[in-house]
Amino acid sequence: MLLPDGYSDLPADKLAAIVTSLQMTSRPAPRAERAGDGWTLRKVDHPDVDWYRDLYRRIGEDWLWFSRASMPADTLTAIIHSPDVEVYAFANDGVTQGLVELDYRTSGECELAFFGLTKDAVGSGAGRWLMNRAIERAWARPIRRFWVHTCTLDHQDALAFYVRSGFVPFRRQIEIADDPRLTGAFSRDAAPHFPVIEAG
Ligand SMILES: CC(C)(COP(=O)(O)OP(=O)(O)OC[C@H]1O[C@@H](n2cnc3c(N)ncnc32)[C@H](O)[C@@H]1OP(=O)(O)O)[C@@H](O)C(=O)NCCC(=O)NCCS
Repeated sequence: MLLPDGYSDLPADKLAAIVTSLQMTSRPAPRAERAGDGWTLRKVDHPDVDWYRDLYRRIGEDWLWFSRASMPADTLTAIIHSPDVEVYAFANDGVTQGLVELDYRTSGECELAFFGLTKDAVGSGAGRWLMNRAIERAWARPIRRFWVHTCTLDHQDALAFYVRSGFVPFRRQIEIADDPRLTGAFSRDAAPHFPVIEAG
């Protein structure tokens, strides 16, 4: 059902975001990058769920990444242990500060399911370095399409960063979900730039 033009009220315990999906259908030339001393990327086979959730929360809590936070452990394990899902950890001087997750479960394509850095690594050049690696890895399998979605809860630079990376927007959606700070999945203080609305 198409929402009507104009403003649509939401219950106070719901979040809404505009989601943009973007894709590339051939491998772009890498963009100029700086190579930080001490930056490494490691493929993590059979990631431990607690390790994964900790990294996911450290990156995503500020951006209200809730999908994996509240997912049952066995469901999450089945995804991140799938032979068609690759999880990579970015580290700076041995401290894990970034996540790349490539999902090839749909034949012929790869979804950049998660891509992000912890707050201390954002804006350091690591994002571009990591995206060049993600594009290399994604196109190492015989895919026809590499795609990603980002939403208005993500970092404000993410959409433009993806466009500069060679992804072309092809779809816009509205996502409505429970506010994870009100379900108990997240601390109430998370993402203060996107405040909780107290039910009146
Ligand atoms: C989205 C995200 C990955 C973008 O990364 P970022 O840290 O802003 O990116 P960088 O600082 O590496 O790069 C930004 C640009 O500045 C340049 N840059 C940054 N620091 C630099 C430096 N010291 N020297 C030279 N260039 C530099 C990069 O080369 C890049 O240029 P380009 O985009 O024109 O190629 C990051 O904001 C993030 O992880 N956010 C939190 C999680 C999130 O929202 N993820 C997206 C969800 S879909």
